[in-house]
Amino acid sequence: MTIALVPTMGALHEGHLDLVRRAQELADDVVVSIFVNPTQFGANEDFDKYPRTLEADRAMLEPFGATVFAPSVDEVYPEGFDLFASIRSWASTQPTTTFEGATRPEHFEGVLTVVCRLFEMVQPDVVVFGQKDAQQVFLIGKLIEQAFPQIRLEVVPTNREPDGLARSSRNRYLSAEERTHALVLSRALINMSLRLMSATSTGEAIAEARASVEAEPEVRLDYLDIVDPHDFTPVNEQFRGPATAVVAAWVGSTRLIDTINLVIN
Ligand code: PAJ
Repeated sequence: MTIALVPTMGALHEGHLDLVRRAQELADDVVVSIFVNPTQFGANEDFDKYPRTLEADRAMLEPFGATVFAPSVDEVYPEGFDLFASIRSWASTQPTTTFEGATRPEHFEGVLTVVCRLFEMVQPDVVVFGQKDAQQVFLIGKLIEQAFPQIRLEVVPTNREPDGLARSSRNRYLSAEERTHALVLSRALINMSLRLMSATSTGEAIAEARASVEAEPEVRLDYLDIVDPHDFTPVNEQFRGPATAVVAAWVGSTRLIDTINLVIN
């Protein structure tokens, strides 16, 4: 029997279900973990108000016949737990302090720690993650390469609302008006990728995309950049080939991220 693990923090939406569907294709059994991981939230972040909808989540997973694994904080982090220290030293060799990590110190140490614990507890053959969290999936890829070579990593494309907004558990925080403003993120990335298909300068295309986000009312840009998918560092003007565009912004008080894969010609 093979096991596919889909780690989540619950508040499930269609994007999560795409991961579950892919997991079903890859293994005999699917385990969906639902755990709002305290170690990946900063002191001023939304850990307390993060949506917890376990019963609705279970109902959404019911038709898939997936096993729901919803451990307590004490099970995941037993007393005397020391994994955090070794993860921290490994994380310091990886791009954990740029982009998401710059604004959310310790975030990736928390993500990598919980992912290690979930892998230990569930012992999956396959794990399925979303491309939406591009830096997260990059780091988990490195972690698997180095510490869990027996596990296959499967990455699923971002599921979007019909108007382009990337689905996210945090979208439910947005007012109707904020939701409209939030569309600037996916639009900026798509327009930038189109611009880069012709002979535009990469720097100019990035500057234009940033300006379009900054021009939107109620939206405060955190970062918008294009990174080399091999090392998650910003591309330079000479870079050619497949690359990853990433954006993060606050829309009102809600922080959203988005990403697309593009090609610089
Ligand atoms: P969460 O935000 O619940 O996301 C769980 C998984 O769903 C992640 O792999 C994420 O990339 C994926 N996902 C989220 N929105 C998606 C969308 N619109 N389309 C496709 N996939 C999407 O990411 C986390 O939880 C946590 O950091 C976790 C890895 C569980 C560790 O706590």
